Amino acid sequence: MSTPTPGKPVYNVKNPFISHLARAYDLSTPEAPKHTRHYELDLTGSGLEYLPGDSLAVQPTNDPALVDDTLAALGFTGSEEVTHAKTGATVPIRQALIEGNSLTDVDNKLLKAVVEKTGGASIITDLLALEKKEELRNYLWGRFVIDILLENPSAKFEPQEFISVLKKLNIRLYSISSSQRAVGESVHLTVATVRYTSHGRTRGGVASTFLAERVTESTPIPVFVNAGKGFRLPEPEEDIPVIMCGPGTGIAPFRAFLQERQATKAKGKAWLFFGEVSASSCSFYKDEFAAWLADGTLARLDCAWSRDQAEKIYVQNKMTEAGAEFWAWLEQGAIFYVCGDASRMAVDVDKALHSLIETHGGKTPEEAAAYVVQMKADKRYRRDVY
Ligand SMILES: Cc1cc2nc3c(=O)[nH]c(=O)nc-3n(C[C@H](O)[C@H](O)[C@H](O)COP(=O)(O)OP(=O)(O)OC[C@H]3O[C@@H](n4cnc5c(N)ncnc54)[C@H](O)[C@@H]3O)c2cc1C
Ligand SMILES: NC(=O)c1ccc[n+]([C@@H]2O[C@H](COP(=O)([O-])OP(=O)(O)OC[C@H]3O[C@@H](n4cnc5c(N)ncnc54)[C@H](OP(=O)(O)O)[C@@H]3O)[C@@H](O)[C@H]2O)c1
Repeated sequence: MSTPTPGKPVYNVKNPFISHLARAYDLSTPEAPKHTRHYELDLTGSGLEYLPGDSLAVQPTNDPALVDDTLAALGFTGSEEVTHAKTGATVPIRQALIEGNSLTDVDNKLLKAVVEKTGGASIITDLLALEKKEELRNYLWGRFVIDILLENPSAKFEPQEFISVLKKLNIRLYSISSSQRAVGESVHLTVATVRYTSHGRTRGGVASTFLAERVTESTPIPVFVNAGKGFRLPEPEEDIPVIMCGPGTGIAPFRAFLQERQATKAKGKAWLFFGEVSASSCSFYKDEFAAWLADGTLARLDCAWSRDQAEKIYVQNKMTEAGAEFWAWLEQGAIFYVCGDASRMAVDVDKALHSLIETHGGKTPEEAAAYVVQMKADKRYRRDVY
C-alpha cells in the first residue's frame, strides 16, 4: 500500500491495526534444525491494503516468563507502578515490561547505571571505554537485561528508574507472503522462530516466539504495512521475465509475487530459486509450487538442499549450473529479485551473477560488473536483504 487512498484509515507505529491470528501451520518438520511457520492474520474491516513486495510491521510483546524472571532479579513484585514507555499511562511494572520495553536488547543507559551503582566494580566499567566497542559488542552478544542484573547483584534499582534505562520494545518487519488479490482481507507471513542457548539460558527472539508460542486467536497483534519501495513486479501485461531467488524465509515475497501473477495472468515467464537445508524437512509451500509449475505461473523451479549431500549446495550453485539459460533470460530483459540473508547469501549470489555473466556473456570481469551496474540502473536487479 504505497499511496494512501483518501478516506482510508492510515495505520502506522502510533496507530497500528489490531489484527488477530486466523490460521497458522508449520512449514518445517520437527527434524529441521530451525522451526519455520506460516501465519495468516485477519484484516477484516481494517481497510488495510498492501502490494506484493511490501512488508508487515508486527508489534510483539515480551515473554511473561522472561519478565517474571527479570522482576525476581530486581526484587520487585510486579505490581509497582511505573509509566508505560509506549502509552504514557501509569501501569504495574509487569505490564510495562511485557508491552513497552525491550528486555533482550541492552541499552547503554543500563550499563552506565550499573557501573555507577557498583562504584566501578563491574566488569562493564572497562568495556564502556570508547575504544572497546568491539569487546562490548562481544560481551553483549547472547546477553539479555536479566544477565546484566544477575551478574551485578549489588546494582539496585527503583521501578521507574529501571524503566528509564531500557530501550522501547520495537516492531519487527516481515516480508508479506500473500497477494491481496488472492487472499482478500488477510495477510500471510513466513517466519523462522529464533531460538538459541547462551550463557546457560534458553533464549527466544521476541517477535518470532511471540507468533509461534504466545499468540492465540484472541491475542491482539498490532500491525501496519511498510511499503517495499523498489521491490515491485512489472505490470502483468508486460512481457518481462522474472527470476526470483529466495532461500529460507526469503521465499516470502515470492509466494506473494506468484499468487499475484497467477491472479493477474501475468504475461512474462517466472523462474524461482529456493534453498533450504533438506527436501524432507523444509519443502516450504511444496504443493503450491507444484500447482504453479503445472499451470504455467512458474516456468522453472530450482531447489538447493544444502544438507542433503556431503557437499553444501546453495542457490548460487543452482544459478551457476543453469548459467546458460539464466544468461538467456537476462538478455530477454529479465528482472532478477533476491530476498533473505544479506551477510552471506546475497553476497555469494551477487558473485554468482557476475560470474555467469562473464562465462555465458563472454565478458571480462569489468564488463560483467558494468552489466550488473546497468541492470541496477534499469531496476532489473532488485534486492530485499539485510
Ligand atoms: C524488511 C525485512 C523483512 C523481513 N522478513 C522476514 C521474513 O519474511 N521472515 C522472517 O522470519 N524474518 C524476516 N525478517 C527478520 C525479522 O524482522 C526479525 O529480525 C526476526 O524474526 C528476528 O526477530 P525476533 O524478534 O524473533 O528476534 P530478536 O528478539 O530480534 O532477536 C534476534 C537477535 O537475537 C540475537 N541472536 C540470534 N541468534 C543468536 C545466537 N545464536 N547467539 C546469540 N545471540 C543470538 C541476535 O542479536 C539477533 O539480532 C525481515 C527483516 C526485514 C528487515
Ligand atoms: N526481507 C528480508 O530482508 C528477509 C526476509 C526473510 C528472512 N530474512 C532473514 O534472513 C536470514 C536467514 O533466513 P532463514 O533463517 O529463513 O534461512 P537461512 O538461514 O538463510 O537458510 C536458508 C538456506 O540458505 C543456506 N545458506 C547458508 N549460507 C548461504 C550462503 N552463503 N549462500 C546461499 N545460501 C546459504 C542455508 O544452508 P546451511 O544452513 O545448510 O548452510 C539454508 O539451506 C534471517 O536472519 C532472516 O531473519 C530477511
